[in-house]
Amino acid sequence: MRKPIIAGNWKMYKTRDEALQFIYTVNQAVPSIDEVETVICAPAVLLRCLVKRQGDHLKIGAQNMHFEEKGAYTGEVSPFLLKDTGVQYVIIGHSERREMFNETDESVNKKVHAAFKYDLTPIVCVGEKLQERENGTTNVIVDAQTVKALSGLTKEQVKKVVVAYEPIWAIGTGRTATAEIANETCGYIRSVIERVYGKEVADEVRVQYGGSVKPNNIKELMAQEHIDGALIGGASLEAEAFITMTNFNK
Ligand code: 13P
Repeated sequence: MRKPIIAGNWKMYKTRDEALQFIYTVNQAVPSIDEVETVICAPAVLLRCLVKRQGDHLKIGAQNMHFEEKGAYTGEVSPFLLKDTGVQYVIIGHSERREMFNETDESVNKKVHAAFKYDLTPIVCVGEKLQERENGTTNVIVDAQTVKALSGLTKEQVKKVVVAYEPIWAIGTGRTATAEIANETCGYIRSVIERVYGKEVADEVRVQYGGSVKPNNIKELMAQEHIDGALIGGASLEAEAFITMTNFNK
């Protein structure tokens, strides 16, 4: 059985006061970590403050990192520094980083390896553009992104990866993939992992769906065979909505 993982991606939102208010409200209201893994991925400057106040059932993650441990990389944050804040997860290769900050499959792969070196769980994002969905190349795109992102990992490492399938056309648009489409592509990603790493690994790896997940559609998405979690942008900013979504199975 794969444990569901519900993660919020705050992107570049929330002040420290807002983040504190959120965490005090949400800490007590999320499900037990024995049932569901709940993660908030916050801007780097908020991470330490959130880690210090996280309850037993809410975990904190970063939204990006460099792959080097240290060096002359002005403005970057290393996996070593992230580990030092106490975070346990890191989003890697979000489409916004691929599109706006020149993230490539190669840098994603380096970052995934760096995450394991520092014992951070990578949430690796893959997903197609609208045009790719429309011209029928979705599977080709997510296949290549998944294979390249995970290249060189051991089977045991791949089991621990969280893959987030986020169709770019569904992000921040209010246009969610139907549960059926989301499940189909998440299932395809699992089949790619099976092809490369075998069935045992594919059965364990968790695949999230992301893109306009809201309190009113999460239940249906989470009921799908190949969807093990959600990566939630906009709707994760509001404490009550986030609590409702983490309790999707109640
Ligand atoms: P929205 O939930 O706002 O569509 O964002 C999805 C996302 O990009 C999460 O990483």
